[in-house]
Amino acid sequence: MMTPSGLQGAIFRKILLGKQEGSSVRVFRIYLLTGLLVMAFAGSGNTAWALQPGDPARGKEVYNQYCYKCHGMNGDGKGEVGGVAFPPPANFRDPALWKGKPDSFFIDVITNGYNYGKMPPWWDVISKQDIQDVFAYIKTFRPK
Ligand code: HEC
Repeated sequence: MMTPSGLQGAIFRKILLGKQEGSSVRVFRIYLLTGLLVMAFAGSGNTAWALQPGDPARGKEVYNQYCYKCHGMNGDGKGEVGGVAFPPPANFRDPALWKGKPDSFFIDVITNGYNYGKMPPWWDVISKQDIQDVFAYIKTFRPK
């Protein structure tokens, strides 16, 4: 759903990460293809389209494409464009960041953005499965 935060965040994301927008065209094509496939399978009782548990290995690929510029390759929040963001991007290595928040909070932040889009939304760029996967990956930064 396009929330105000989502809209502003999408614009913010475009300014900061403009050249990545090309990939959303590709993603759109994939959605289109997936949509056609889903239609082809509709009614066949096929459940392969349900969300799978997050896979950190797949999530790492998503992270290293879309998140590292702000959150840093190692999740410490010190990515190359992170410096221009205020507040700074979340540091996934800080135990305090994780405290008392359910998984659903993080899934929502990644999907819809946060703080008027200072953390941009991703629902229109990556799939729901990608969001599960990238969340599984950022959890690997959480101190044990
Ligand atoms: C344009 C820079 C930018 C990009 C790209 C970005 N983020 Fe963020 N992110 C932020 C900022 C800034 C915050 C902190 C917002 C705040 O604290 O108000 C944040 C916060 C978060 C939080 C919230 C942590 C918390 O509990 O407060 C999560 C989770 C997160 N980002 C995940 C991701 C993931 C996953 C990706 C890639 C799909 C991503 N971010 C891409 C800037 C970015």
